Amino acid sequence: MINIAVFISGRGSNFIALHENIKKGVIKNAEISVVFSNKEDALGLDYARKENIPVIVIPSKDYKDRHEYDNLIVKSLKPYNIGLICLAGYMRIVTDELISAYENKIINIHPALLPSFKGLNAQKQAVEYGVKFSGCTVHFVDGGMDSGAVILQKVVEVYDDDTEETLSERILKQEHIAYSEAVSLITDGKIELSGRKVTIRK
Ligand code: GRF
Repeated sequence: MINIAVFISGRGSNFIALHENIKKGVIKNAEISVVFSNKEDALGLDYARKENIPVIVIPSKDYKDRHEYDNLIVKSLKPYNIGLICLAGYMRIVTDELISAYENKIINIHPALLPSFKGLNAQKQAVEYGVKFSGCTVHFVDGGMDSGAVILQKVVEVYDDDTEETLSERILKQEHIAYSEAVSLITDGKIELSGRKVTIRK
């Protein structure tokens, strides 16, 4: 059984999708042991509380030093024996304090086909660039911005009349599927990481 910590900053739909799929048995050998948020008013916290999932909130606005902040996170996660951290709309760059405490155990979902359209507003970037396909990427987290090894990607077609909103909506549906698939691969022990190459064992 792998204890998962999900990190959120807002709506939390990816967190909810993961939790639903654990409840349904689509993701096996895993439990969401705690939800961490850097924002007190993150909507996803309401769902966590309703589902009796422990919640940790440390408002990031109170901390100027990212390293001090991440150290605090490491300390607060200790009691939960976390084997996997899933960043799900967590709007903070994580520092080495967290990355080294959970080496190759932190993953993220990004709403574009990396390495295209890193950073904020990836769907808007895709619409404005005029690409014909975008999608989402689940990847390991390293010290860079959306730069870690890719675990899996889902492609979404971009239509001529797409806006940031319509594309975001279609990508989000794929995110919910992709994140659960990626977590399953990890909890089933099917992932091998070598450098920046991820191999999936059949
Ligand atoms: C998602 O599009 C995710 O890819 C991005 O932030 C958004 C979070 O949505 N990193 P939600 O909070 O999971 O609903």
